[in-house]
Amino acid sequence: MRVDILTLFPEMFPPVLDHSIVGRARKKGLLQVCCHQLRQFSPDPRGRVDDTVFGGGQGMLLAAEPFARGIDEICAHLGWKPHILYMSPRGKVLDQEAARRLARQPGLLILCGHYEGVDQRLLEEYQAEEISVGDFVLTGGELPAMIVTDAVSRMLPGVLSEEACFTEESHYSGLLEYPQYTRPEVWRGRPVPPVLLSGHHENIRRWRRAQALAVTRKNRPDLWERFNITKEDREILEKLEDFT
Ligand SMILES: C[S@@+](CC[C@H](N)C(=O)[O-])C[C@H]1O[C@@H](n2cnc3c(N)ncnc32)[C@H](O)[C@@H]1O
Repeated sequence: MRVDILTLFPEMFPPVLDHSIVGRARKKGLLQVCCHQLRQFSPDPRGRVDDTVFGGGQGMLLAAEPFARGIDEICAHLGWKPHILYMSPRGKVLDQEAARRLARQPGLLILCGHYEGVDQRLLEEYQAEEISVGDFVLTGGELPAMIVTDAVSRMLPGVLSEEACFTEESHYSGLLEYPQYTRPEVWRGRPVPPVLLSGHHENIRRWRRAQALAVTRKNRPDLWERFNITKEDREILEKLEDFT
């Protein structure tokens, strides 16, 4: 997959996207990330990209034209049109399903807003999909663009060693993940739940399922309400105490 990012701050990206799993995916050629400085596409000789807001109000707005020129140039260079995202607190909040959907695209072109955002006409002209990373306001779209790139890239075939790495994780199937433990067996007087040391695979599976159900019900009533609980899940949940 190829990810192009149009931003006022391309230098923010390498410290995050050059490392760890995403960095390795890039080195292996599974993911290509290209950050472009928005100012280089400004029609203004001094590289100005913002202006005041029509109708009055606080702050500056990013103009449509520098983004439009950047998008056109990137598409011309590629010879095809990637799926265009605009990072925005007004967008649909990113979830695992959206990350999975975006990972099926051959390419993403991510537009990072700043100041008050961007001229609405740009979003309409290019039918950009607005994506939010949560119900709060950040100073710019750079961190959200990194979050989208990270979440999407770990869904790409070959990026994680086994598909189970993400299919068993929080949010993949609508539940949060069960708690996990490593050595030592007792840490500061806290023992690992005995079922996990029993070697009994079916009991371990049922215990983990019960924990995932319980933590989702407790921490995320919104997810719990949408979750289609099965008869087996209900039984597992009721017997939770038996396994601990
Ligand atoms: C200060 S914000 C602009 C907020 C905008 N005036 C509003 O009220 O919706 C500047 C930029 O940061 C990015 N941004 C801020 N919060 C975000 C969020 N929760 N998710 C995605 N992008 C966000 C967007 O690109 C946005 O254009």
